[in-house]
Amino acid sequence: MTKKAFVIGHPISHSRSPLIHGTWLDAYGIDGSYEAIDVAPDDLAVFIDRLRRGEFAGGNVTIPHKEPVFALCDSVDPLARAIGAVNTLVGQAGGRIHGFNTDFMGFLGNLDQNAPGWSNGLDEAIVLGAGGACRAVLVALRERGVRRVHLLNRTAGKAEALAGIMGPTVHPAPLEAFADLAPRAGLLVNTTSIGMHGTRFEQLPLARLPGEALVTDLVYVPLETPLLADARARGLKTVDGLGMLLHQAVPGFEAWFGVRPDVTPELRRRIEATL
Ligand code: ATR
Repeated sequence: MTKKAFVIGHPISHSRSPLIHGTWLDAYGIDGSYEAIDVAPDDLAVFIDRLRRGEFAGGNVTIPHKEPVFALCDSVDPLARAIGAVNTLVGQAGGRIHGFNTDFMGFLGNLDQNAPGWSNGLDEAIVLGAGGACRAVLVALRERGVRRVHLLNRTAGKAEALAGIMGPTVHPAPLEAFADLAPRAGLLVNTTSIGMHGTRFEQLPLARLPGEALVTDLVYVPLETPLLADARARGLKTVDGLGMLLHQAVPGFEAWFGVRPDVTPELRRRIEATL
């Protein structure tokens, strides 16, 4: 029987997930499908019932369903709770639904592939931004045992609130603290929307980072943000954000179709062509 998976959102037409999973279904010769389905908020529970009845093996969940779907799952991974969002569902025996979040795995998979060993001995990191996307990064760094994460945000209250949720390794600070904190940071992550449309940070003295620091950006349009370009020009290692999108898809595909897929240069080229 053809195994079916989905991505639901509202709107959903912009999603690149069908291309990612479709590429893997072809590459591994799997009898399966992956389709984007527009589900309005009022229709979420009815749609989830279709998963419960076995019509699908599982699927992805995106905006605006990532938080409401918690209430419709029978079990939720604790790390998804820490991140505050479920992005992947798996239908289980007896009509049960398990929810988890693969964004933090995508962040780790991207850096592991493109900067192997990046977390060995990593003691301090700086994370810019305290919005939704930031939480998966904080959970990822906690999972890797990074001792001290400085969470720098324009709005102090948001960084403080998030630090309160994430625990004692996360230290909130204003963006202006960058210059003082940078010399001890082995990793800089941008989780703000700065970088989209070529926007840049006004006061971010990258020269203060150690020469071996790694700089990565969650923004992937453009692929090389001004932050990454500046870091590269200074001779720092950089990893762009597209790999996180590709790697976050791996655990879902494996759960639904039974094959752990590879993030290959060919897959990357195909998605890059759509940016
Ligand atoms: P996401 O869910 O993608 O993280 P978000 O929740 O809207 O999006 O968060 C956007 C982040 O980018 C926030 O940390 C925001 O800072 P504030 O909390 O102060 O709003 C940050 N951000 C966006 N534009 C910014 C700008 N021009 N300068 C500094 N920070 C900015």
